[in-house]
Amino acid sequence: MEDLSKIKAVAEKAAQDAGNYVLEHVGKLKEISHKGAFTNLVTDVDKGSEKIILGAIQKEFPEHSILAEESGEHSQGNAYRWVVDPLDGTTNFTHGLPIFCTSIAVYHGDSVKIGVIFDPNKNELFTAEEGKGAFLNGKKINVSKAKSLSESLIVTGFAYSIEGKIANIENFATMISKAQAVRRLGSAALDLCYVACGRFDGFWELGLSPWDTAAGELIAREAGGKVTTLEGARFDIFNKEILATNRLIHDEMSSLLSNDEEIK
Ligand code: IPD
Ligand code: CA
Ligand code: CA
Repeated sequence: MEDLSKIKAVAEKAAQDAGNYVLEHVGKLKEISHKGAFTNLVTDVDKGSEKIILGAIQKEFPEHSILAEESGEHSQGNAYRWVVDPLDGTTNFTHGLPIFCTSIAVYHGDSVKIGVIFDPNKNELFTAEEGKGAFLNGKKINVSKAKSLSESLIVTGFAYSIEGKIANIENFATMISKAQAVRRLGSAALDLCYVACGRFDGFWELGLSPWDTAAGELIAREAGGKVTTLEGARFDIFNKEILATNRLIHDEMSSLLSNDEEIK
């Protein structure tokens, strides 16, 4: 077993260095292109941030596997697998909307061991290690105490796919009439962190990728939250759908959400 505290320190520094690089480039974009749909953007800054993070990992742990959003798989087969989103909230970033972050997780065995998410706009570093709690800038965080949807502020997101019926619209309509309010911030990783620190009481989304959820799902669970599929089954980072709550409103949300519209 590797020294997890060293792995965590490398992840924290890489997330902060890359996040600060992203922040420095707000409004200075050289290149925006599309991945498939016109709604799915990638910029030179996504790629530059990923380079910083991969460089840091490969310097310290050259044998570890990496799954990174923009460059895919590296050194497959190692027991340690880093899962990297170099910029979560790219659309917000391209518009100068300060809701984006970097997200780094380390997967080992059948679960995420370390999760680190850095929001350079608010200088907020969310961290978690399996079994050791979740932290915001070093201070322990906990999920909220809201007991029902009617007293809950919840959040969701919509996948980039815009062909045919827009997935999640019916869930959104249902939740708007049941929750105190529903938000859509545009960064799944921050949505999970905000459940972890009690700013949101619940979050659900369909059509996600492992780099969107890997670090955040550990942070939410370590803060006392519950993370499952929409139906309440065990969540794995390769599941596309996620329901993360303060635990108290989990069953109520799960009973109302449907994955019938999930993007294949
Ligand atoms: C996206 C964000 C967004 C979510 C999308 C993700 P990206 O990630 O997390 O909130 O709704 O499904 O793809 O593309 O900004 O890294
Ligand atoms: Ca993402
Ligand atoms: Ca991204």
